[in-house]
Amino acid sequence: MNVPLVNLRRNFQRHQADYNRILTETAASCQFVMGDAMRRFEEHFAAYLGVRHVLGVGSGTDALTLLLKAHNVRGKRVLTQNNTFIATALAIANAGGIITLCDTDPDNSQIAPESYTGEEVAAVLPVHLYGYPMDVEKLRRRFGNVPVFEDACQAHGSSLQGRRCGSFGKAAAFSFYPGKNLGAFGDGGAVATDDDALAEEIRSLRNWGGKVKYIHDREGGNSRLDTLQAAILDYKLGYLDQWNAIRHERAAQYRRNLADCADLTLPAPDPEGGVQNYHLFVVRLAPQFNRDEVVAELNRRGIGAGIHYPLPVNRQKVYEKYDFARMSFPVSEEAARRILSLPLCPEITPEEVDFVSENLRSVLAEQAR
Ligand SMILES: Cc1ncc(COP(=O)(O)O)c(C=O)c1O
Repeated sequence: MNVPLVNLRRNFQRHQADYNRILTETAASCQFVMGDAMRRFEEHFAAYLGVRHVLGVGSGTDALTLLLKAHNVRGKRVLTQNNTFIATALAIANAGGIITLCDTDPDNSQIAPESYTGEEVAAVLPVHLYGYPMDVEKLRRRFGNVPVFEDACQAHGSSLQGRRCGSFGKAAAFSFYPGKNLGAFGDGGAVATDDDALAEEIRSLRNWGGKVKYIHDREGGNSRLDTLQAAILDYKLGYLDQWNAIRHERAAQYRRNLADCADLTLPAPDPEGGVQNYHLFVVRLAPQFNRDEVVAELNRRGIGAGIHYPLPVNRQKVYEKYDFARMSFPVSEEAARRILSLPLCPEITPEEVDFVSENLRSVLAEQAR
């Protein structure tokens, strides 16, 4: 059996007739850039999230960069967590801000604001990591009125107290990279916000800094969500809740299968009043295991286990010259050595979940010897 981390091929095959029709119809409109399908998707995704504006852009990285530029963080500290995909930190640097890191909560891998004792920050950028809804109120209690921007690139459809991730802060960034819970057929991203002025700024920044053709008020760039991608995303949005519910069922099956495995810590269950979208199912191995060998053996057995992420931001070579390279972030650094992600997507079958669980158990039993 071969079980990839995410089975994009199976999704494509199941919906192929619809995908073909949507791509052909959208291409026939010849509105390849900023077409009606992009506006329709923006409206539908805004209604889904419960926000006033969604602006389609070229990627999640661009969404983060543009919202930080629109807020003008140049020369100011922006706080984020040490255990995230590098794009979160890069976006702060791209917008001219000062990357400032803090450690994470050992129970759920989310930002731990109480661990930050450094200088004042101008904005906080939590990540709903693995699709687990981070409680933004915790940040407000620690940082008062400092604006919060959400990295919701992994959190399509996750919610807390009846509200969707991406609607809690001043603005949020989404990625539509193909492997995401709402994924395009290539790169794509969006900014979500209730703030009219910020939305206007992003509308301009994504379009060379102008609202009227050939008239430019500011130095923007070129970052629009392609109409073809938006048409596919609009169709997939109709399935998002259903697909997330299947992820939940498969995650519950992993939990049942692995509950008595003392060598593993399973992901945190849904928080009170919240629902995670299980973008990733990340388990933690007991310290005696060599995580890389466990992953390599699972891969040899046809299981697409992954690591999200093997190196935290402060240990990345690109940031060697920064202060935080010499700081210690015990929780996120320890997690990075011990975590691995098991295959999970709406297309994975119950038999495949059993196969992965049995193999994980047998690899751990072998390596414990
Ligand atoms: C947490 C996080 N932030 C940012 C990004 C960047 O998104 P993109 O790959 O669309 O640029 C990703 C996705 O890859 C992500 O997982």
